[in-house]
Amino acid sequence: MTLAIDSETSIGGIAAKYPRSLGVFEKFRLDFCCHGERTLQQACEAAGAQLEDVVRALREPPASADGDARDWTAATMTELADHIEATHHAFAREAFDRLAVLVPKVARHHGAAHPELFEIERVVDRLREEMLDHMIREDRVLFPWLRRLESKTSILSGPPWSVKRPIDCMVHDHEEVGRMLDSIRTLTNGFSTPPGACGSYQAMVGLLRDLEADTHVHIHKENSILFPAGIKAEAASGCRCGQRRDAGEPTESNGTVPGMRRKTCATHDGSDADSCGC
Ligand SMILES: [Fe+2]
Ligand SMILES: [Fe+2]
Repeated sequence: MTLAIDSETSIGGIAAKYPRSLGVFEKFRLDFCCHGERTLQQACEAAGAQLEDVVRALREPPASADGDARDWTAATMTELADHIEATHHAFAREAFDRLAVLVPKVARHHGAAHPELFEIERVVDRLREEMLDHMIREDRVLFPWLRRLESKTSILSGPPWSVKRPIDCMVHDHEEVGRMLDSIRTLTNGFSTPPGACGSYQAMVGLLRDLEADTHVHIHKENSILFPAGIKAEAASGCRCGQRRDAGEPTESNGTVPGMRRKTCATHDGSDADSCGC
């Protein structure tokens, strides 16, 4: 691919502009999602990768057709939010449904020989709780807010804070999710299975590997494309309160959403997450 990269280009920006780079970054274990603001050089240093090796791989033609090679920087926020819900959120929910059966089963049968499975079970439980709650907040509060920001038929109303506030909370959640995925990678020894592992063990590890890869792309699309577009659209709208609501739409301005568990917002001074709309 033809690359326009200089020393100041962020890895998140490269990933957004050249979707085929995602596979290369994943292969070299470069963090393009939670630390997408780093330059390519900084990301290589953090991962212990050689910059020239990465650039060479980026310039190689793709080995196969990429199923998600669309340039999402050219999409509307509505298109991107719809895509994230239909693909990444749907995939994660389905993965957690399957893991809820597989992980306890594998831990029960193989935990005596592989005690790390009990820790994997604990981390996956926390990850599931965190991600399911997080996706409800995006589906029901933040993504509708972003769609309203680019809607021509909206009126200005809502809570007296910027869209940056819930975005900050989502970015904070992403960092937490990234740490849990790193733990799972370490506990599974890089998503490997022991000799003689049964089918369920192999299916569990394979699914955890797929979940990590999909979540990296998922977080990248939000942190580096969707959220910056929302902040830019709010600034361009001149909206003081930061939220636009379609006329006649049910009021939900306090951010309280049915189905969400109540949680403390770590980003905003430990206030209750419902009250700050995060
Ligand atoms: Fe999401
Ligand atoms: Fe998210």
